[in-house]
Amino acid sequence: MRKTIVAGNWKMNASKESVNNLIGGLLSGMGGVATEVIVCAPFPYLSQVESLISGSSIMLGAQNLNANPKGAFTGEVSANMIKDFGAQHVIVGHSERRSLYGETSAVVAEKTKAALDADLTPLLCVGESLEERESGNTEAVVEKQINAVINLLGIDAFDGIIIAYEPVWAIGTGLTATPEQAQSVHLFIRNLLAGSNERIAQKTPILYGGSMNAGNAADLMSCSDIDGGLIGGAALKADDFLQICKAG
Ligand code: 13P
Repeated sequence: MRKTIVAGNWKMNASKESVNNLIGGLLSGMGGVATEVIVCAPFPYLSQVESLISGSSIMLGAQNLNANPKGAFTGEVSANMIKDFGAQHVIVGHSERRSLYGETSAVVAEKTKAALDADLTPLLCVGESLEERESGNTEAVVEKQINAVINLLGIDAFDGIIIAYEPVWAIGTGLTATPEQAQSVHLFIRNLLAGSNERIAQKTPILYGGSMNAGNAADLMSCSDIDGGLIGGAALKADDFLQICKAG
């Protein structure tokens, strides 16, 4: 039985005040939440969130990392630095990093390796653009993105990886994939993993991301291969995020 995981990706949205309010709101509403809850904060706020969530069941993640362990990489942040602030997770390969910062699947695989080497759980994001979907290439795109990680690290690495399927056309657009569309790609991903290792395929959490909100979360997460959500906009409001957590 896979656990349900709801992760918030705050992206580049935070201030000391908003973080205090958001975490305060989450902590006061965690009572009925049975899902695992992760918040992925921008780097400067990791320390603040670490303190605020101390002693609670909320877990901390970062949104990116450098693939190198340390050294002359001005402006970059390593896996060990992220760990140092109590984070257990890190997002890798988000479509915004792939499209805006030129992260190839090879780079994403290296970052996944760096995270695993530091005992961080990567939230590995994959997903197709609208053009790729409309040209019938969704499965080929997702397969290539996942195979880049399998080819570098081997299937056993997925023992420590959470996958997030985030169709690019659904991110921040209000256009959510239907439960049928999402389930179909999630099942494809699980079958892809099963081609190498059935046990790992059955235990790997596969989250859906892309305009998931309090209104559509329950339908999406009731699909047999959708094991939770990676939430952008709706993760910035405590009430909305808690409702999604409770829907899981
Ligand atoms: P939205 O929920 O704002 O569509 O963002 C999804 C996302 O990119 C999470 O990583």
